[in-house]
Amino acid sequence: MSIVYIKDIGQHEGKEVTLRGWVQNKRSSGKVQFVLIRDGSGVIQGVVFKGDVTPETFALADSLTQESSIVATGTVRKDERAPGGYEISLNDLKLVNKAIEYPISPKEHGVDFLMSHRHLWLRSSRQHAVLAIRAEIIRACRDFLDERGFILVDAPILTPAACEGTTTLFETDYFGDRAFLSQSGQLYMEAAAMAFGRVYCFGPTFRAEKSKTRRHLMEFWMIEPEMAFADLDEDMRVQEEFVSYVVQRVLDKREKELAVLERDTTRLKRVEPPFPRISYDEAVEILHRHGSEMKWGTDLGGGDETILAEQFEKPVFVHRYPSQCKAFYMKPDPDRPEVALCADLLAPEGYGEIIGGGQRIDDLALLEERLAEHSLPAEAYGWYLDLRRYGSVPHAGFGMGIERTVAWICGLDHVRETIPFARMLYRMYP
Ligand code: 4AD
Ligand code: MG
Repeated sequence: MSIVYIKDIGQHEGKEVTLRGWVQNKRSSGKVQFVLIRDGSGVIQGVVFKGDVTPETFALADSLTQESSIVATGTVRKDERAPGGYEISLNDLKLVNKAIEYPISPKEHGVDFLMSHRHLWLRSSRQHAVLAIRAEIIRACRDFLDERGFILVDAPILTPAACEGTTTLFETDYFGDRAFLSQSGQLYMEAAAMAFGRVYCFGPTFRAEKSKTRRHLMEFWMIEPEMAFADLDEDMRVQEEFVSYVVQRVLDKREKELAVLERDTTRLKRVEPPFPRISYDEAVEILHRHGSEMKWGTDLGGGDETILAEQFEKPVFVHRYPSQCKAFYMKPDPDRPEVALCADLLAPEGYGEIIGGGQRIDDLALLEERLAEHSLPAEAYGWYLDLRRYGSVPHAGFGMGIERTVAWICGLDHVRETIPFARMLYRMYP
């Protein structure tokens, strides 16, 4: 008895194999039962003919319910009409667990119902495709950086200080002291870049964002490269190569999954360097021409990002935002100190900002000044200030949100399906 995965079934044509999986669907027509078997690697139709099996096995096949778990043995046959090109004629069937009535049927369900049943919803072919693409994106991110000499340095999750503003911190008790769940590993990557040159971290990050939008999660995953001796230009160059590499990898390796999602890949195929770059000032002009009433000095809203992205085929960089609407660590442009040497990368097709990054302040006095302006406690940032005391160099980096990137590449209008178990404003279950 050779146990195989459905994805490898083509190597066993004409042979007897055993599959272990779940019943995705079942129909019968008197003398024959059709059992759709799913094993996580693929789906295949099993056919049970009354004449081929014992009466007990036939009765068992007849009694199978959706999502019952089974061990099925049979002969692999080529069948042009079958979805994967093969089907299996079953001669033996064992029940592992008979599922009680499954709450998710092929009919339509509301999103709230599906999110409450996320632990089961993961079994659907669409969710399977999304999460397989997510895994491919993560692998591509890491391959790109590993191949280019970036060292993976893990950042802590429990931190004593804020990175991205004090309004979105999740606070917890640390043996009588205050600690926060990390909003970003960036500050630690700056320390690591001074030790290793080029580094990155990849991990969960947390934002207590009281906003209920299709782009915000309370817990999301971010990949954050940081480079010593790099400026904003170099930062954007690395980003456009990085993002293009990731998109092309998914197109190359996950064609089947993109097809399951019915993703139109025309525009994804055009994602290659260079990406257009516009300044924040130019962005404001474009927005005003399109009827937006946003004011110079404020951060871009989701609607603004969509208008801007619509003007371009590829992802677009918006650089040099006013310092007043960005984080404390952003280096001012020496030619125009009221704007920062930063850039956000906006995805096409209305998916919004997927990357935030830029050049960091490398001057001790200026950094101290900014901490005070942002009312951040200097004690908590003592170690961070040290980086400006001992061999400070120009450096830059960025953070790419995995979920927004998955939403864009998969063509999903909400980030809740891009992560296995989403943490949202009014949902922490399952
Ligand atoms: O622009 P952000 O806040 O930048 C930083 O955290 C920097 N410290 C990164 C760095 O330079 N190392 O976040 C970066 C990205 C965003 O562009 C977005 O993709 C994602 O993280 N992101 C979120 N994704 C989902 N839900 C949220 N609440 C997010 N907040 C940010
Ligand atoms: Mg941002």
